[in-house]
Amino acid sequence: MAKKKMVYFCKECGYESGKWMGQCPSCKVWDSFVEEPVVKTSSSTSNAIINEPQILNSIETSQDMRISSGIGELDRVLGGGIVPGSLVLVGGDPGIGKSTLLLQMCRELSNVNRKVLYISGEESQKQIKIRADRLGEFTGELLLLCETNVQLIEDSVHKYKPEIVIIDSIQTIFSDGSSSAPGSVSQVRESTSALMKLAKGHGVTIFIIGHVTKEGVVAGPRVLEHMVDTVLYFEGDNYASYRILRAVKNRYGSTNEIGVFEMQNKGLIEVANPSEYMLKGKPEGEPGSIVVPSMEGTRPILVEVQALVCRTNFNMPRRTAAGTDYNRVNLLMAVLEKRLGIQLSDCDSYVNVAGGMKINEPALDLAILMAIYSSHKNKAIDDNTIVFGEVGLTGEVRAVNMAEQRIKEAEKMGFKRCIIPIGNLSMLSKESTVKSKNMELIGVKNIRELIQKYM
Ligand code: TYD
Ligand code: MG
Repeated sequence: MAKKKMVYFCKECGYESGKWMGQCPSCKVWDSFVEEPVVKTSSSTSNAIINEPQILNSIETSQDMRISSGIGELDRVLGGGIVPGSLVLVGGDPGIGKSTLLLQMCRELSNVNRKVLYISGEESQKQIKIRADRLGEFTGELLLLCETNVQLIEDSVHKYKPEIVIIDSIQTIFSDGSSSAPGSVSQVRESTSALMKLAKGHGVTIFIIGHVTKEGVVAGPRVLEHMVDTVLYFEGDNYASYRILRAVKNRYGSTNEIGVFEMQNKGLIEVANPSEYMLKGKPEGEPGSIVVPSMEGTRPILVEVQALVCRTNFNMPRRTAAGTDYNRVNLLMAVLEKRLGIQLSDCDSYVNVAGGMKINEPALDLAILMAIYSSHKNKAIDDNTIVFGEVGLTGEVRAVNMAEQRIKEAEKMGFKRCIIPIGNLSMLSKESTVKSKNMELIGVKNIRELIQKYM
């Protein structure tokens, strides 16, 4: 009997290799290779649909072809609604709320009499019903199916002809064409390609849920990112109740959009005003706290940056950065020491972006710097002031993008004064777009000027 040929796959990104490797050369993740048998996929065309070429201009499209999912934040991330016949991957850590989000979408869709089929390989129909009861009333006829065999799923789709299908976790689905275990790289790929044919051939929209896995031999959703039209990731903090839905890839829209939700005991609630949400509980008149408008894609969100600087009791001062880049914070502290002569080498410093957001954009620099300075000098920054700008190594304050949106958001939230890079100020006054009576705009050239004049 011929020996079964084995290959190694990276379970993170699907990289294929003839031998085992400690680190994946493609995605640089360690210890991610798993051994799987080689599968010969039959390339039979017997049940394939034969396509005819068409003249580009004769193909009809229209924006109203999109279906609203009934959840505004989800529509926004999808680029304005669900595109019929598209394949959407929703990834995220286990327990983050993927099933809940899609079940809520099913509720909205079936309530307006759309035909939706929810296929779960993880939970029984009873379990789904229990979850559904928490979410509220389902007036429409939502179809539930517990199935893991992709061929049988195809049969059900042919039989019931739904417009929208949800596959709850691709890692539980298997195809007869592959002999490896469900959740393995080749199974996940094989099943997804079967689903892709179903979506493209029959115009069914398919949402695939994929767990991001930290350990074990289950393939992660990155393995199929290239096969689907849209990739959404659902992220959040284990300790915070808000969740962010982010588009990583979108053939039908921008990847800049995010949706913000809050997990409550009746499911996910849309957060229409994330800035207000993030600034809840901000202290007033306390040193070491400042608000900064950060951009999440095209959307400005105000967040509070906090710093605590105190004398160290160790030989090596302790420094931490939560929600932002640790190295960036160290760099900014070095700039403060060198350019303003502030002694920080004997200080512990803790920087935190309140609310649990993770922000790495350079526009945060000025806020981090001011928060550190404010805490070190024990001098509070005016509560009505916001600040943004990138800080260079010589202490210069550099312009950042989308200044206007940032200022508008701050104005909306009632802030009165905005310290911005001089570069941005001159650009704004040239275009003279922001002419507001409620907001005082101050341009700064470098951090020395900032500290001398405004702190
Ligand atoms: P779930 O959608 O099952 O996560 P996933 O499919 O991504 O694994 O969400 C599970 C979590 O959400 C669970 O910890 C309970 C919580 N939850 C609520 O807090 N409120 C609710 O109304 C529901 C349905 C779930
Ligand atoms: Mg789930």
